[in-house]
Order: sequence, then structure tokens, then C-alpha cells
Amino acid sequence: MDTIVSTAKYLNGEITVPGDKSISHRSVMIGAISEGVTEITGFLKAADPLSTISCFHSLGVEHKFDGDKLFVYGKGLNGLKHSSTLLDAGNSGTTIRLMSGILAGQKFSTKISGDQYLLKRPMKRIIDPLVKMGAHITASEKFTAPLTIQFVESLKAIDYELPIASAQVKSAVLFAGLYADGTTRVIEHEPSRDHTERMLNLRSEKENGKIVISINGGMKLEAKQFVVPSDPSSAAFFIVAGLLVPNSEIKIINVGMNPTRIGFLSILKQLGADIIFENERTIGGEPIADIIVKSSILKSNCILEGDLIPNIIDEIPILSIPAANAVGKFEIRDAQDLRNKETDRIAAICFNLRKMGLDVEEYNDGFAFESKKDLLSSEFNSFDDHRIAMAFGIAALALHGDSKILNSECVSISFPTFWESVKTLQR
Ligand code: S3P
Repeated sequence: MDTIVSTAKYLNGEITVPGDKSISHRSVMIGAISEGVTEITGFLKAADPLSTISCFHSLGVEHKFDGDKLFVYGKGLNGLKHSSTLLDAGNSGTTIRLMSGILAGQKFSTKISGDQYLLKRPMKRIIDPLVKMGAHITASEKFTAPLTIQFVESLKAIDYELPIASAQVKSAVLFAGLYADGTTRVIEHEPSRDHTERMLNLRSEKENGKIVISINGGMKLEAKQFVVPSDPSSAAFFIVAGLLVPNSEIKIINVGMNPTRIGFLSILKQLGADIIFENERTIGGEPIADIIVKSSILKSNCILEGDLIPNIIDEIPILSIPAANAVGKFEIRDAQDLRNKETDRIAAICFNLRKMGLDVEEYNDGFAFESKKDLLSSEFNSFDDHRIAMAFGIAALALHGDSKILNSECVSISFPTFWESVKTLQR
């Protein structure tokens, strides 16, 4: 499917964006290995978290949807069953990487794979620490899926200093730590999203400027209730839309405001964005707020690099859009891991920005460009990546003339109703 997006006169209204993808995955994973029935409110019913549900279904975990609630019938730490079929993580890196941590500790072997895009993504980053813990994992020659995670007698606790800032690697090691003898410690230099720590109530301390997260092997998990806030990474698309399209005002309800996720809001504010937070509160251990955004004249001239990158890693595609429309130079560095996402996002962003008429310089770890007036509407390639499709769908609202987003159905990975939400706000 392709979607035509026309220039918006203005955007106005109130919307709720779907539940947080990272928290939705984790709520099912934790629910599956807890004792009792986990109740999840606001679960993201999109392709990626549904892949996590389907993998656990293959491992004998039942679930039930009831209105906006999802119930997961937990099996306890050691109650998962061997699956005679291959687990299919679909397009979801979070599913395969985090579940590998859980599967490494099982008393049975499992094979897990995914779609053509997932098969290209690096798995060495989780294989290395899990093997250090005693796991037995085989992968392709290039350390990609399919992964075969074999039965081992036991795992041992380790101290693991993350060589790259990655919440997926951190979480895989923490989940494996549940099955290890002793206390596993993960040490991170730059903070990455901390939902696993919050949801498992783990000890997290600062030591010599580093963050040290500890988990005790055999820790019994009791089923709980999780409330999933709206995904700030999904809200980001409409925040940028509201800023870009003249005479707009948008209110987005119940957005997750976890400090490890909202670096993009500070950046937009520094560029001059009119963004207000209302009704700030904490639900289920996660800060939440309503966000009101009004069209703003933005100035660019910024370099985003270093420690900031893990915090904004999923928002870089959409952050490049206001930068293109603002006055000044915009540069992203230290973001080489963007090349390992659902698609090579550095290449995809540069390709589409050039179609808008920008002169973009591409680096191994980022890109840079000077903004320009009179950007061109175009045919944008989604590269089958949900965040690329949505970023350039939003860009199109502020371009003159109709644009086309190719293979726009890929938004179903994290935001199945995205194109309808655009229409709801567009005047
Ligand atoms: C995620 C972590 C990030 C992020 C991804 C979701 C998670 O990946 O890009 O969309 O839920 O832990 P990395 O850990 O590879 O940075």
C-alpha cells in the first residue's frame, strides 16, 4: 500500500497515541515468567508486541484480550514448555534479543528467527554476554538469526560492562540473570531506556559515573498489574507535525515521560518549540503527562552526538524533519547503530531528505545538512521501516503539493492507526 499525503492547512485536535512498544513487550515477557495472572492495560496491539505474544504462546503461555486489557497467564520462572516449532519474532529486534535472555535459562532448546529484515540485524551483541554466562547459542556465520538456544544445565552470574549503549542488550542479560547462580550486574556508561529495571524493581546505582544494575538469580516474580503509557516515540511524530504546520494546536494525552526516552523534547524546546506539559503524574512506576504543542518558528544549528544519542535513538528520523524546515545546520554523529535498525536508517533518512531537495552529507555515524526554503514534495521510500514511513509522512504535511509514501502499511509495526490519526487532525 502507498499513502498520498497532501499539504495540511492546519492541524487541530486531541489524540491518544498507542501504548509504549518497549513496555508492552516487557509486560508480556515478565507476565509469562511470573506466578499468576498479569493484567496489562493499554498494551500496544501492533505487529511487534504481537510477535512477542505469539512466541510465548508457542512456549505454552496463554493470554486473553478483554477490552483494553490483556491478561497473561504466567507459568513462573521455570514453567515454559519446549516448542516443537520455530519461534517467529517477525520484524521485532526487541522480541528476539530480550527473549534470548529468557530462553538461555530454559531446560530445553529453542530456535527463534524472524522476517527478512530481522535476519540482517546483529545478534553478536547479545550472544557474547549470554555465552559468558554459560549459554549455548548458535547463529549464522555473520552472527545473525536464526538463533538456536540450547539447553544448558545452569547459567552463571556475571558483571557485564555494556560495550554499546543498548537497552536490548542490557535487558537480555538481566533476564538471563534471573536464571543464573548469584547476582548479575550490568554496567552502562550512557543511560539507555530503563523499563526493564523499573518493571522488575531492580537495584540501580551510580558507581564512578557509571550505572550499575543488579539482579538476583532465582528471584521469584509475582504477577502484577501493568499500565502501559502512550509511546513517547509515537507521540513524537504528532509533536513535530504540530510544530511544523502553521496555525496548529494538538493535545496528546497520557504520554510516557520516562527521562530515558524524552531527550527529543528538550532538543525541540532548544530549537524554539512551543510545547507544554499538563497533568503530570506517575502511573505504574512511569511518569506520564499530557502534551500540548503549537506551531512554532524553529531555529536549527545543532549537533546531536555523544551520550544523548541512546536517549533519542528512535526519534532521529522524525527529528531530522523540523531541522530540515528550521533555519541553520543540523548534524547527527555517534549514531552508527542507526544502521542496524529495521533498515539502515542513516541511508534511508539521507535518501528521503535528498528527495526533498536538501544537500545531505552522509557519515558512517550520522549525517549533516543545511536547511533550505521551499522543500519539495516527493515520492518517499519507507524502506519497509515504520519510523521512516511516519517521519516522511509528517514531513509531507508541510510540503507544497502531494507526496507519496511507498509501502506505508509498515506503520503496523508500532502504530497501526497512524494514517487515520493524521487524517483526524488534518484540516
Ligand atoms: C528498545 C531499545 C532500542 C530501541 C528499540 C527498542 C527496547 O534498541 O531502538 O526500538 O525496547 O529495549 P537498542 O537497544 O538496540 O538501542
